[in-house]
Amino acid sequence: MTKNNNRGESMFEIWNKKKVSQLTNKDIDLWFDVLNNGLVEDRGYQLNDSNIKRIKAEIKSDYVEYLKGCPKDDSFINYYVLRNDLGTILSICRVISKDSQYYLEGLETHRDYQEKGFASQLLTKVLHDLKRNNIKKIHSLVRNHNEKSINFHEKHGFLASEKDDLNTRYGLDVEEQLRKKLFDQWASTYNKFVKRSESEGTYPFAGYSEIKYQIIDLITKESQANVLDMGVGTGEITGPLYDLGYKITDVDLSENMIELANKKMPNASFIQGGFHSAINQLDDKYDYIIFNYSIHHLDNNNQINLLVKLHDYLKEQGIIIIGDVSSKNQMDMNKLKNKYERFWDDEEYYPNLDNFQKSHLKNMYHIDYKQINEVAGIYILSMVHE
Ligand SMILES: C[S@@+](CC[C@H](N)C(=O)[O-])C[C@H]1O[C@@H](n2cnc3c(N)ncnc32)[C@H](O)[C@@H]1O
Repeated sequence: MTKNNNRGESMFEIWNKKKVSQLTNKDIDLWFDVLNNGLVEDRGYQLNDSNIKRIKAEIKSDYVEYLKGCPKDDSFINYYVLRNDLGTILSICRVISKDSQYYLEGLETHRDYQEKGFASQLLTKVLHDLKRNNIKKIHSLVRNHNEKSINFHEKHGFLASEKDDLNTRYGLDVEEQLRKKLFDQWASTYNKFVKRSESEGTYPFAGYSEIKYQIIDLITKESQANVLDMGVGTGEITGPLYDLGYKITDVDLSENMIELANKKMPNASFIQGGFHSAINQLDDKYDYIIFNYSIHHLDNNNQINLLVKLHDYLKEQGIIIIGDVSSKNQMDMNKLKNKYERFWDDEEYYPNLDNFQKSHLKNMYHIDYKQINEVAGIYILSMVHE
């Protein structure tokens, strides 16, 4: 349950119902010490209120009651704690479940350790735990007057869904947020990694340049085109097209990837966000929609749903181009996986032709496929016209 990275850094603790039932008075004092300012502010009191002592005592008694009730409360899942090696709690929060949805609650950072990134660290660890438990989405209710909390949620990818007089309801896609973090960290070395994998001719990027130039050659047959790059990364595909004067819109989850792509394409349009939410911000139709090594971040059903939605954003003669680790069928994919077992990424869902052809995509698109080498393939989806 308790994980210490042994480097004198913060320790992450997961407090389930059983552990919470064993909280000592000293623990409770420590926990409340982190929470109390936040709770006071959250309830709309000021810390310089002349009755602050009484207010805090009342809040503490509510809090102790709440903690004592957690082990018997069906909605309570876990408390999560980040502690330093002196035992001081740096940041704390809990996850509860209501009406089959999961909520992040009570996220607070110790007043002496504010603005040091501990709440972000804790949130990332909580998201990893949710992912391990197959929890896909987490919600959070934030008081409308709590600007600091609103900023925190928005900075960490939460999207506002509903608002009433008191609260704004936020939602966060757990896997997407973790992936964003991964790509933000990877952005500066991504191109080097691709080059090395390609030069070694191995999974995952064997054939990357061939796919890249096939896509560019296909698009440059037209002297003008409106191009949408879904998962632009560092801008390897649409960068050269931008230089040739094509109209480019780039979508990516990762801020750092977008920053690099933006340097190559200063006047292109950029949408930072997940594929599905980015679609809601599109107000154009495209000649080409590209997914180069990016659609595999969605599972197979989501890939198909997204490709179906994108039908509305294609011009009559428009096409969707997908370059990726790919095979003709699941059997070939399994062979590839066995060959590269040591490096295989089980969190990526590579497309295969059979899956696409068995889905209702075939009613909307003609699907052409070319296997580039044993690792990669390229799909061209063009509209079926009645
Ligand atoms: C392997 S990189 C490929 C980048 C680029 N297309 C290329 O050919 O080099 C995948 C990119 O997709 C982005 N990405 C992953 N999942 C995404 C999602 N759900 N929505 C938007 N972008 C996503 C990542 O941030 C990353 O930049």
